[in-house]
Order: sequence, then structure tokens, then C-alpha cells
Amino acid sequence: MPTLSCIGAGLLGKTLCHLLSNQLSIQQVINRSVASSQQAVDFIGAGRPASIDNLEPADIWLIATPDDAIAATGQALFESGVLRADNIVFHCSGSLGADALQFAKAGINRASVHPIHSFANPSQSINSFAGSYCAVEGEPQAVEVLSSLFNAIGALPFNIDGSRKVLYHSSTVMACNYLVSLLETSRQLLAASGVDSSGANPLEPLIRQTMDNFFATDAKSALTGPIARGDNKTVARHLAALEAHPDHQLWQQVYTALGNAAVPISAEQGQASAESLEAIASMLQSTQGDN
Ligand SMILES: NC(=O)c1ccc[n+]([C@@H]2O[C@H](COP(=O)([O-])OP(=O)(O)OC[C@H]3O[C@@H](n4cnc5c(N)ncnc54)[C@H](OP(=O)(O)O)[C@@H]3O)[C@@H](O)[C@H]2O)c1
Repeated sequence: MPTLSCIGAGLLGKTLCHLLSNQLSIQQVINRSVASSQQAVDFIGAGRPASIDNLEPADIWLIATPDDAIAATGQALFESGVLRADNIVFHCSGSLGADALQFAKAGINRASVHPIHSFANPSQSINSFAGSYCAVEGEPQAVEVLSSLFNAIGALPFNIDGSRKVLYHSSTVMACNYLVSLLETSRQLLAASGVDSSGANPLEPLIRQTMDNFFATDAKSALTGPIARGDNKTVARHLAALEAHPDHQLWQQVYTALGNAAVPISAEQGQASAESLEAIASMLQSTQGDN
């Protein structure tokens, strides 16, 4: 069985090591303290705590430190002298490419594998990871080996151009993090309208329905509401109501930015007239300009 050592066995590192332990022999687990490494080993159910100052060879190295420490960790790994020419070294950052790892020696196969999965709860992730897409790039041999390993643990690997990873990552941030911001903004507006959402959120069925429609069809088919209908008087009333809450300028900013994004989708849909969409776009832009 090929061997894998992990530097940075936190939320993602220890989960992947646990999942990969049927495919690879997990060796050294390296966090900044022995206690932290031992905790990770206990979770993984394999491997042993080790220190970056005293490394032994391995076939594959996973660097799963925070993004800002990846380059320096790669450098420390290289300087330890333990890397062999056929080794694979990979990280899991969404925004950095394999070239974040710079080794002054040819033949070390660098890669990055970014799972589109939230590892906030590792005990849950070991059961829910299968079916997660993973963006893979780097040196061909590393991409081939890692794609096959991630396939074996139920992931859906796909290739990505390393030079476009920042744009790719901004998409995942928007889909995951900013979706939460949007849902929370809509909940705040609901509360401001006097609707009690302290228990169940009355918007939940609507949100789920919209998600289902979007994934079953596309943006053009899933978009409904005043912009899609070209109902510019309703949009004007929304903007006036939001304006009446000067402490909540953010609401207006979110409304206008996402409204602007709804205009071209509505134009493609063809329900609203071009004139009403132009009027809506101009109202949204002038309100946005005031902020
Ligand atoms: N979390 C996610 O949902 C997720 C999803 C996709 C991709 N990723 C990527 O996965 C990577 C790790 O993220 P994470 O969320 O797992 O981070 P994390 O939970 O903070 O874990 C980072 C680990 O690295 C260790 N560490 C920090 N600096 C180190 C150093 N200089 N040397 C050795 N170990 C060090 C930390 O242990 P000690 O503090 O005990 O040293 C910790 O165990 C990042 O590249 C991130 O972008 C994360």
C-alpha cells in the first residue's frame, strides 16, 4: 500500500486521512504540537504523531495547513531533505494552484485537490463526503494518482486550470458563504416587516422550492417576481421602503446588486418588456450609486 503523511491535520486533513486510510497507509501526522497531532491520529484511527524536524519518507504528502502557511510548509518539507523524486505533494486550497509549492528539485509531483465540501464537522463529513466534487490540477502523474484515490473514496474529481482557481474559488464562496448572507438578509427584512420568524422561518419552503427549480431547470426558468415580470412600480416601492431604513444601508446594497443580476436573466426569459427592464435597471443603478 502506498504511504501518506499529512502536515496540518485539522478539519479537512484528519477527515481526508480517515477516508483515505483504506487506500493508503497513513504514516506521520504533523501539527504544531504533539497533543494536537495525537488528537488527529485518534480521529484518523491510523498514523503516528511526528514533527517536521524529524521526518521519514512517504510516497504522498498532504499539506492541509491554513492557506497562508502552505508555501512555507512546502518549503520546510523540501528543506527537511525527506522528499524523493517520485513523491506526490498536494494541498487542498480552493484559491491556490499547485504552483504555491515551489521545490528546487525536479521530479516532485505537485498538485492541488479542492473538495467542494464543508468540513466544519469531521464526524459528519466522514459519512457525507461521498458525492462531493473535487477540483484537481497539477502535474499529470499526481493528477492521475490523486483523481483515482479520491474516486475510490466516493468523490467526483474534475480537472481545473490552476491559473483560474481564484475565479473558481470565488464561485464556491458565493454559492456557499454568500448564500448564507443572502438568507440572513432576507430573514432580517422579514423580521423588520413584523413577521415572527423566531421559530420556523416562513421563507423556508419558498427557498427550497426555488433551489429545486433552479437545479431541475436553469436560472431563466427558475426566476419569478417583479423584475422577471417587468413590474417597475413594485421595484420602486421596494427601494423606497428600504430607503426608509437608513441604518440598514446593507439591505439596499444587497437588493440592488442582486436585482441588477436579475435583469439580464429576465431579458433572456422574455416575459418583461425591454422598456420596463431598462427602467428597472436605471432605478437599481441610481440607488446603488447613492450608496
Ligand atoms: N474546512 C473546510 O471546509 C475546507 C474545505 C475545502 C478546502 N479546505 C482547505 O483545507 C486546508 C485546511 O483547512 P482546515 O479548515 O482543515 O484548517 P484547520 O482546521 O485550521 O486545520 C489546519 C491544521 O493545520 C495545523 N497547522 C497550522 N499551521 C501549521 C504549521 N505551520 N505546521 C503544521 N501544522 C500546522 C493546525 O494544527 P495546530 O494548530 O494544532 O498546529 C490544524 O490542525 C486549507 O487549505 C483550506 O483552504 C478547507
